[in-house]
Amino acid sequence: MDIALKIGSRWRKVGLKLESYNPSGSIKYRTARGLIRALEASGLLAPGSHLVESTSGNLGVALAFLSQVRDYRFTAVTDPKADPVMLEHMKSMGAVVISAGEPDEDGSYLLSRLAMIRRLLAEDRASIWPNQYENPANPEIHYHETAPEICRQRPGMDAVFIAASTGGTLAGIGRYLRSVSATAKVVGVDVRGSRVFGYPSGKRLITGIGSSCTSLFLRPGDYDDVVIVDDREAVTTCHYLQDNLGIGLGGSAGAVVAACARYLKAHPEIAQPVCICPDGSANYLNTLYNYAWLAGHGFGSVLNLESLAFSDVLKW
Ligand SMILES: Cc1ncc(COP(=O)(O)O)c(C=O)c1O
Repeated sequence: MDIALKIGSRWRKVGLKLESYNPSGSIKYRTARGLIRALEASGLLAPGSHLVESTSGNLGVALAFLSQVRDYRFTAVTDPKADPVMLEHMKSMGAVVISAGEPDEDGSYLLSRLAMIRRLLAEDRASIWPNQYENPANPEIHYHETAPEICRQRPGMDAVFIAASTGGTLAGIGRYLRSVSATAKVVGVDVRGSRVFGYPSGKRLITGIGSSCTSLFLRPGDYDDVVIVDDREAVTTCHYLQDNLGIGLGGSAGAVVAACARYLKAHPEIAQPVCICPDGSANYLNTLYNYAWLAGHGFGSVLNLESLAFSDVLKW
């Protein structure tokens, strides 16, 4: 769908690619399908096979969904930052959900989750780890499916904004666009405190986007620019779009739209930007969309528009 952001005195059209419409509710449905398809192609999976994966939520929901359909067992290793909505969703589809205990130095849990994965693999030697962090099937599905779909849907696109965590979505879409367009800008989006692009680590609130490790997929030529967004800017954008347009975006999508607005301000020539919105508000009803939770995390007044690069929003 298209919206208009008021940036300075100009209204700018922005395309939102709403990945919440995937069967499991997020862009990670595509990643999960790519990972499972690659394992099946190498003959590693049979009915009853046991998959284990580390996830901040969405990949877990997608793997639980596909495991139920294809008769695999699935154990998700998540952490206390995940919204209970996503954990319950995984469990309702038969997944075993384990929460990694100890936070890393920056308050995230990736290293703790990976240690738990190694323990599970040692306990059940027949279990299989798709490993979204290193498996080339992750960027490949976005190269072969997500990116051509974007180009079909918006042939004149001149900039695309993509949230990064493993970097699989950005690497896959970026490489494809490089092969078909000499001009379209590929912009990676991350949150402050994340190490995906090598910036210093720090506490982060939003899940899904960001990581305490650099991406193993991304190469410098895969993207043109990176925009780093504060948690507050992303959350404010989510609430502003929800309150004014009734569009419920997830936290990383809020970061992507906030980044796009900032980029458009600096690039008046861009006419057809697209924001990849990885998931929707349904995944964050107990966290980013819960005022008591926000207040407990230092977000007393969410809608402080001064931090944003846009001043108003409309449906296009
Ligand atoms: C909500 C959300 N945003 C962004 C991303 C980033 O995707 P990637 O791991 O492909 O970089 C994810 C991945 O888990 C996600 O769940």
